[in-house]
Amino acid sequence: MVRYLALLILFSISVVNSKHLPSFIKPCKKSDPEFKKCVKDNAIDALPYILKGDSMSRIPNYLPFEVPLVATTATQGLDLQLHDLKLYGMNTTKIEEVDFDLDKQHIYVKVFIPDSTSESNYTVEGKLFSFVINDKGPAKTRIENLTVEYTIDYQLVTKRDGKRYIDIDSLKNKLDMHIGKGYYYFGNLFGGNKALTDNFNQVLNENSKDVDDISKDGMRSLIASMVSGLFSAIFKIPYDEIFID
Ligand SMILES: *[C@@H]1O[C@H](CO)[C@@H](O)[C@H](O)[C@H]1NC(C)=O
Ligand SMILES: *[C@@H]1O[C@H](CO)[C@@H](O)[C@H](O)[C@H]1NC(C)=O
Ligand SMILES: *[C@@H]1O[C@H](CO)[C@@H](O)[C@H](O)[C@H]1NC(C)=O
Repeated sequence: MVRYLALLILFSISVVNSKHLPSFIKPCKKSDPEFKKCVKDNAIDALPYILKGDSMSRIPNYLPFEVPLVATTATQGLDLQLHDLKLYGMNTTKIEEVDFDLDKQHIYVKVFIPDSTSESNYTVEGKLFSFVINDKGPAKTRIENLTVEYTIDYQLVTKRDGKRYIDIDSLKNKLDMHIGKGYYYFGNLFGGNKALTDNFNQVLNENSKDVDDISKDGMRSLIASMVSGLFSAIFKIPYDEIFID
């Protein structure tokens, strides 16, 4: 009944133990000379259904995608947390490449997200561009032309039902991101001092390339959990039903 693939970036589903599997996942023939195209086309076709969510197979709604907490850690001396983040614009996602290498047991996905925005409530402590900040308030971001490339290895495991399943090796993944342009806004800084807040946001956006690195750090954990969640939902489908002879 169900079938196959929709490799995407973005999904947080914890446990999927339902027998219901989404009908928008279609199989590809391993012997198809256009196998790669089949995988990509199916992923593109499945994308709008995935983004809308599917409660029966426990795929949440991604329009918007909601996350309780995004924390950044990579920037020394800065502890930034974004709470109750809502991410808009996933419906602009374009799948540029999907490569499923059945011999090397390797998955590659490249997506392009032209325009995404987020709203959240931040807490921040530390130092940035020589400003000492220790505040909380509303945060907004806009990312134009985000490219995400994700690669991951997998193994095949035979489960008790005798069927083979894809088992993602989450330690063997690689995530590359490129941001065209980022825009950032933090409200209510410096105890609510408007002049200082405006000044800080101006410095932030004049140096947005540097802020992009903090932004990527936040997205890294976000995307990794989205992807592993999506994979764990899709790979409840036996391998031989996703890739048929
Ligand atoms: C994405 O969704 C937003 C908000 O619902 C809408 O305004 C926009 O036109 C949509 N864009 C695409 C490409 O579907
Ligand atoms: C941020 O917090 C305020 C006040 O608690 C709340 O009204 C608002 O909805 C929150 N924003 C988000 C994006 O959760
Ligand atoms: C985003 O990409 C579009 C089309 O690829 C391009 O025309 C535009 O200049 C880019 N904008 C930025 C800010 O990178």
